[in-house]
Amino acid sequence: MTNLLYMQDAYLQEASASIEELAENGEEKAIILDQTIFYPQGGGQPADHGTIVGPHGSFEVTHVSYNGGNVLHKGKMTGELKAGETVQLRIDWPRRWQHMQQHTAGHILDQAMKNLVPGIHGIDGDHGIGKRLSVTFDGDLSAWISPAKKAEIAVEIEKIRTMHLPVKAEMVSYDEIVRRGVHLPFDLPKDKPLRILQIGEFLAMPDGGTHVSNTKELWPIEITDVVQKDGKWQVRYQVSEESLNKEAAKTLPHNSTSEMDQLIELRAAIKKELTELQDIYDSELEKRNKFLGKKGRFNQVAQMMKNIDDEHKKEAGQLINQFKSDLEAALNNIPDEKLAAWVDLTLPGTPPKVGHVHPISQAMNEITGIFERVGFTRVRYPEVDWDYYVFESLNMPPDHPARDEWETFFVDAPIHKKLGKVVLTTHTSNGQVREMERLNSKPPIRMINIARCYRRQQDATHTQMFHQFEGLVVDKGITIQNLKGTLDYFAEQFYGPGTKSRIRPFHFQFTEPSFEVDFSCHICKGTGFIEGPEGKQKCKLCKSGWHEVGGAGMVHPNVLKYGGIDPEVYTGFAFGWGIERTYTLREGLNIDDIRLFYSGDLPFLEQF
Ligand code: FA5
Repeated sequence: MTNLLYMQDAYLQEASASIEELAENGEEKAIILDQTIFYPQGGGQPADHGTIVGPHGSFEVTHVSYNGGNVLHKGKMTGELKAGETVQLRIDWPRRWQHMQQHTAGHILDQAMKNLVPGIHGIDGDHGIGKRLSVTFDGDLSAWISPAKKAEIAVEIEKIRTMHLPVKAEMVSYDEIVRRGVHLPFDLPKDKPLRILQIGEFLAMPDGGTHVSNTKELWPIEITDVVQKDGKWQVRYQVSEESLNKEAAKTLPHNSTSEMDQLIELRAAIKKELTELQDIYDSELEKRNKFLGKKGRFNQVAQMMKNIDDEHKKEAGQLINQFKSDLEAALNNIPDEKLAAWVDLTLPGTPPKVGHVHPISQAMNEITGIFERVGFTRVRYPEVDWDYYVFESLNMPPDHPARDEWETFFVDAPIHKKLGKVVLTTHTSNGQVREMERLNSKPPIRMINIARCYRRQQDATHTQMFHQFEGLVVDKGITIQNLKGTLDYFAEQFYGPGTKSRIRPFHFQFTEPSFEVDFSCHICKGTGFIEGPEGKQKCKLCKSGWHEVGGAGMVHPNVLKYGGIDPEVYTGFAFGWGIERTYTLREGLNIDDIRLFYSGDLPFLEQF
């Protein structure tokens, strides 16, 4: 019985042994040793080659087989070897390493298919004996022949390969095999220990071959075909590519070799990354850019070309081209069902979220339109302005008590000799003298000035920042009639037909006479009462039939003078109303707190 050293340590390349028997069959000679590192052909793995060297001769091993407990080393003798002699064994390691790669790869492929097709088992494997490497399965693989499906197998294999799993063989009893749930594709003797191969935590498989000790040592595995042969489905594979690259690297001069090694390493790292990204299908474009984009990983690899010497450029170029095709294939071959899970192409697209203009901006646009239709021009003046325009030119000299009403924010800025302090405009009336100046004090003036205003106020009907619109008309012969007509026009346009305006005496420093402007309530139509279930009741919205919206009046002669206009020749009217207030009084709106407009509350704003 030959002691099978390769079973205990697949990495043994040399060992001593003693010749037990020398057999001869004509030309053919066979040596039986007490122990061997030579793998006899079996389990789909080809036999090892190598040499057996004795004190007086050597033997070139060209075939190894297993027969009734003994390993037969067959080949050609040079000199003489005798039974009982101690000999040195050496196997052709590159050949064996290739076989180990091929064999372990076959098991990884088997495992990958088990992961992908539940219930399937590998029943046979050819890991180098025939022309092609293949694993034969006991199930139907007709659904796996498309390039996309083959790519999916390759991805699953790559996943396992790059998991860096230990590959361990051990001898266990038949009962232990049953206990571990190992699938036996054929009958095995129940009375002897059996060898099983354990890859990571996957279910063990019966096996008698030599294997790499960790999947991290494996070369990349490619799927070459999924075919039906003699009524059974076979997945064919290849592992040679990386080994060829390594061989190529060995032939390069020292510095180029290390560049080539780097290139191989980088490529392996990129492939690994690509595999790990396989499940993230929602960022397909991102992934494509990452690998194939201008600054993508492929170009990083291609950059290394410049370090490869001329002699090996061609080889490196082929390597890089192959890498590009691999990447493209992996990116293009996204399995159909994964795509389906990612996106249902029959569903309508998600409409992009579209916002809309803020209700106060909507009101401003509408108000602008109403006044533009009757010859007013929309202007804009500073929100941060000099005291002169906000107060002084409006007939409120410094220290005038009327200034106290305006709850002003002062800006901490240098004071101008003539124009005074800098303030946040408390009203749009700062546009009055500015407009007169803009027109070089030459009426006619028909201005509508809309702007943000600021006051130190905050409650349900006041905000620190709010909007006003200011009308100013200056011409010869302008009277209160014109003001009243303009108010009625606006009331009908903005609130609807039948809405009336009312002016009540009031006091502003910059108008004389001055008024407060009211519009009739749309609920009670200006009566102050509504017909309820219990008869006539006070209107809850206005209580009086009217809503106050702002101030108005005939431009004070002093203001005209500040604007360089002769009050003896020209007269004018002005009005200034809050936009928030004007807007919330509209029919259908029931907003009792204007602070809501600036709360950033989307459900509120989306209603407009
Ligand atoms: C003035 O601001 C005068 N400039 C209006 C004017 C212009 C009178 C031209 C004569 C000629 P008043 O302080 O009353 O006036 O404010 C006018 C309107 O602005 C108020 O009726 C109100 O609708 C609005 N308003 C005033 N303060 C606030 C605030 N803090 N928040 C919201 N709206 C306000």
